[in-house]
Amino acid sequence: MANKNEKMKKKDFEKQLGELQVELARMLSKHCFADRWFFCNGGAEANEAAIKLARRYSHEKYGPGRHTIITMEGSFHGRTMATLSATGQYKVQEGYAPLLEGFRFVPFNDLPGLEKAVDDTVCIETLPQILRRLRTGNAKAQNDKTTGPSTPSEANLEALR
Ligand SMILES: Cc1ncc(COP(=O)(O)O)c(C=O)c1O
Repeated sequence: MANKNEKMKKKDFEKQLGELQVELARMLSKHCFADRWFFCNGGAEANEAAIKLARRYSHEKYGPGRHTIITMEGSFHGRTMATLSATGQYKVQEGYAPLLEGFRFVPFNDLPGLEKAVDDTVCIETLPQILRRLRTGNAKAQNDKTTGPSTPSEANLEALR
């Protein structure tokens, strides 16, 4: 009986959560361009989804071969295999080889280097740190290479846009 009650409670909770997500998605859509949303539990899952979405979009729009994702040296994208592979820090990747292919690393604030790294295989450049920095203005996190965002110069940010 206790087991049945627990199952019912879990189902109710899941239903309520689903309804809240739908409501939140509607509210968010009213305030920006997007009309579809993916809710997840943390940064790695969000970045993992972004990587998959970028590759899928590129594959559907341009066909196979445009799968490379450019990320920044010193960046941190999470601890799943894909986000670890996208992370530009050897100390985080050490011991997990072979990593996933298809990530190219460029120094931060090096626009010529970034331009050089873009070729016909590139589908996206990842900029989560930039976006997070812009959203939060978190100055403390700026200096933490493992967990925090870095700040691009204004000129680079403008060029990246
Ligand atoms: C830029 C960035 N991406 C991804 C992550 C991973 O987030 P989570 O620990 O929620 O998976 C972090 C965590 O600090 C982060 O700073």
